[in-house]
Parts: sequence; structure tokens; C-alpha cells
Amino acid sequence: MSSHPDKPTFAFNRNDYHPPPDYKVTQSPLSSRWAPRNWNKKTWIGISIAAIILLVVIIVAAVVGSQNNAYPNYTALQYTLTDTYAGTDFFDNFDYFTGYDPTHGFVHYVPNTTAIQYNLTYASEKSAVLRVDTTEQDASTGRFSVRISSKKQYDQGLFVFDVKHAPYGCSTWNALWLADETDWPANGEIDVIESVNRGTSGVQSTLHTTNHCKMSNIKRHQTGQTLTTNCWNATDSNAGCGVQGPQETYGSAFNAAAGGIYACELRSAGIRIWFFPRDNIPSDIPSDITNTSAPDPSNWPTPLADFPNTHCDINRHFRNQSIIANIDLCGDWAGAASVYSGEGGCPGTCAGFVAGNATAFGEAFWEWGGWRVYSAR
Ligand SMILES: *[C@@H]1O[C@H](CO)[C@@H](O)[C@H](O)[C@H]1NC(C)=O
Ligand SMILES: *[C@@H]1O[C@H](CO)[C@@H](O)[C@H](O)[C@H]1NC(C)=O
Ligand SMILES: *[C@@H]1O[C@H](CO)[C@@H](O)[C@H](O)[C@H]1NC(C)=O
Ligand SMILES: *[C@@H]1O[C@H](CO)[C@@H](O)[C@H](O)[C@H]1NC(C)=O
Ligand SMILES: *[C@@H]1O[C@H](CO)[C@@H](O)[C@H](O)[C@H]1NC(C)=O
Ligand SMILES: *[C@@H]1O[C@H](CO)[C@@H](O)[C@H](O)[C@H]1NC(C)=O
Ligand SMILES: *[C@@H]1O[C@H](CO)[C@@H](O)[C@H](O)[C@H]1NC(C)=O
Repeated sequence: MSSHPDKPTFAFNRNDYHPPPDYKVTQSPLSSRWAPRNWNKKTWIGISIAAIILLVVIIVAAVVGSQNNAYPNYTALQYTLTDTYAGTDFFDNFDYFTGYDPTHGFVHYVPNTTAIQYNLTYASEKSAVLRVDTTEQDASTGRFSVRISSKKQYDQGLFVFDVKHAPYGCSTWNALWLADETDWPANGEIDVIESVNRGTSGVQSTLHTTNHCKMSNIKRHQTGQTLTTNCWNATDSNAGCGVQGPQETYGSAFNAAAGGIYACELRSAGIRIWFFPRDNIPSDIPSDITNTSAPDPSNWPTPLADFPNTHCDINRHFRNQSIIANIDLCGDWAGAASVYSGEGGCPGTCAGFVAGNATAFGEAFWEWGGWRVYSAR
């Protein structure tokens, strides 16, 4: 070994170091605790529990993540026409509801004979009309109107409603919906078209159910705006899970454009509602009501409202659905002061308006070109 003369060589061989007999080589307390070989039984149990909890958290997160990512298979169904509601016998397919309004409206729902007498329901070859009475000048206990429900009930189906005119005006609460009136909310309610007062905020499409049907934290393919998401009637003051459409889906804007088609598909995968303005109806919806050709919603554009079955067992929550149409006056929704005067900007009180303003109900009528119901084969 050569060494530089100016630099003394210095070598230290650790093997040459012999600590004094009483000197123990120890590691710091910290590093010893983190060395598994030094763990005692208690530490092992603690670490194992922590690992299991972490694993469970990861699995739950993955499951929730995949559920939130889940989306039903809305594969094409083969539909056939089963029922057509059109022509002069349109109203023969319905029962007229005559009881006390369950939603507390300032209204008298009249039986068929009174409706015919006052011309509140009227059907021709081309259309069917349902309106509020405009003749009674002093309707001090509530105004005459009509609520009909189809005698036939459905568990599933594709419902196509040709709507030529939608009712609107202060105090009105207008709806075209599906429900089982004898078992609500257990058998569900689907509000296809619903609107109150002047109807300038666009349509609302809403489900009402018993518990365990939610539209929160799920994938939806819809153009409308989500409102509340728990469909259970006992939450949000029974607001249901609603979706709102743009202004042209209802009221004077809708009527000025000659209305359009509303379609509702009720199937185990979910419930979807489409609105097609008169000038943009899919070509597979026959314009001639006598044409029995069935449309295929799997070719239609994105619906207005999408209620997939991700967190809602559709088959269990929706059964025995009648098609119901009515025009309520005031009541729980349209008549609430915050809605009638506030959002609606309507004059005086709701009941006062209904009682004393017969001529203000000129636009309070439905006019339908016809309804068709298709069933999957
Ligand atoms: C959807 O369902 C159809 C018919 O049941 C099936 O052929 C298709 O593979 C399914 N698609 C997906 C993505 O699961
Ligand atoms: C009114 O309804 C009753 C009961 O559904 C029915 O028997 C009757 O024929 C109806 N009358 C008219 C004029 O439609
Ligand atoms: C009843 O209403 C229809 C539809 O608005 C109308 O065409 C018809 O003339 C009315 N009938 C009577 C007797 O007023
Ligand atoms: C909700 O439905 C239940 C029956 O399931 C009923 O007892 C209750 O009154 C309803 N609540 C509202 C706010 O509609
Ligand atoms: C029936 O309607 C379909 C869909 O619009 C159309 O393709 C077909 O040509 C129509 N059939 C007749 C006989 O008009
Ligand atoms: C549906 O209605 C039919 C006929 O009224 C009845 O027998 C059946 O129990 C109802 N189903 C449900 C689930 O309510
Ligand atoms: C009747 O309707 C007119 C026009 O909307 C309104 O100005 C008036 O206040 C209404 N009258 C009552 C008693 O509500």
C-alpha cells in the first residue's frame, strides 16, 4: 500500500473495535417499536384490526363507487300497441273521481253526467277536452272541475300522450299522471306532466313512493334538472323525486307551439319520460292514431327525466297504475301562499280567485289528440 507522505494514513476496522464489557449496543426506543420482530401480541392484534378496518373501508368504497357508476340496461324492448284512447268514446274508458279532493283543493270534481252537462269533458273524432267550469260566476264553495282515471291498470308499458293544449292560469294545479288511487303510495305514482298556476316554470315529472326509492348519487341520463331526490312520500313534505323541464315544456309557450308528445316508459330497468315538441316528434311515433305501428324508445334522444332502478326496485314500487288526468284548483301545492302569490305572482287569495273569477279559466283546459299504450312482448 502506497501512501502520500503529507497525508497520514488512517484506517479504522470496525472489527478491531471492542466495546467495553459493560457497553450494550442498543437501538433507539422509536426504531425498536416499529420493528415487527419486537411487537408483542397486543400490538399484533391492534395492527390486524387496523388492517381489517382499512380493507373493509376500501371494499365498501369500491362497492359504493360501482353502485354510483351502475346504470340499468335499457335495451330495446319489442312493443305492441295494446290500448288506444281516442275518438268520441274517449271518456268511456275512465271513472270520474267525485270524492273530496285528497290534496285539499278548492274544487268540486263532478261525475260524468254533470261534466257532460257543463261540457267539461268533450270528445270528438280529433280530440278530447277536459276543462274547468267558466260559467259559474259565484263558485263560493269551489269551482267545478274533472278528475278521470282509466279503468284499465298497468304494471309496465310505454305510454304515448299527444297533448294539443295544456291547462294553465292562476290557481290551477294540472296533472297527467299514473297511480293506483286505491293503494297510494304503496303502488307508486308517476307524475308525467305536472304544473301549477301560470305554468311558466316548465313541466315537473315526479315519482312518489314508499321508503327505499331514491335518485341521489346515481348515474342518470336526462336533459331536465333534478329537484329533490328521495321519492319516499314521508320525506321533503311529499315533494317526491322530481325533474324540471325548460319553459317550453308547459303553459302558453307549449300551447303556442301546438303542444307535442309526452311519452313515459315504465319497465323494470327504470322510468323515463320524454317530451317532443310538435315540430320534432320521432318518425317512429305514428301521426295517424289508427296506425298500430309501435315506436322504439331505444332510438329516441336523451329523455327529459330518467329514474333508473339503481336505488329503486321499480317492479315493487309501481303496480296497478291507472292513467289519471285532472285540473285541481288551489290545494296543497298551487294554493300554498308562497306558491300562489310568491312564485306564481297571482292576485289576492287563491280561493277568492277561484270563487269570483269565472272568466279567468279560459286557458284551464287539456286537449289531447289521443293516448296510446304499448306493452313489451
Ligand atoms: C342488455 O340486455 C340485453 C338483453 O337482455 C343483452 O343482450 C345485452 O348484452 C345487455 N347489455 C349489457 C351492456 O349488459
Ligand atoms: C257515467 O258513468 C256511469 C258509471 O261508469 C256509466 O254507467 C254511464 O254510462 C256514464 N254516463 C255517460 C253519459 O257517459
Ligand atoms: C263543448 O266543448 C267543445 C270543445 O271545446 C266545443 O267544440 C263544443 O262546441 C262545446 N259544446 C257546447 C254545446 O258548448
Ligand atoms: C305517506 O304514506 C304513508 C303510508 O305509507 C301515510 O301514512 C302518510 O300519511 C303519507 N305521508 C304524506 C306526507 O303523504
Ligand atoms: C305507420 O307509422 C309508421 C311510423 O311513423 C310509418 O313508418 C308507417 O309508414 C305508417 N304506416 C302507414 C300505413 O301509414
Ligand atoms: C292490482 O289490482 C288487482 C285487481 O284489483 C288486485 O287483485 C291486485 O292485488 C293488485 N295488486 C297489487 C300489488 O296491489
Ligand atoms: C280576477 O282575475 C283578474 C285577472 O287575472 C285579476 O286582476 C283579479 O284580481 C282577479 N280577481 C280576484 C277576485 O281574484
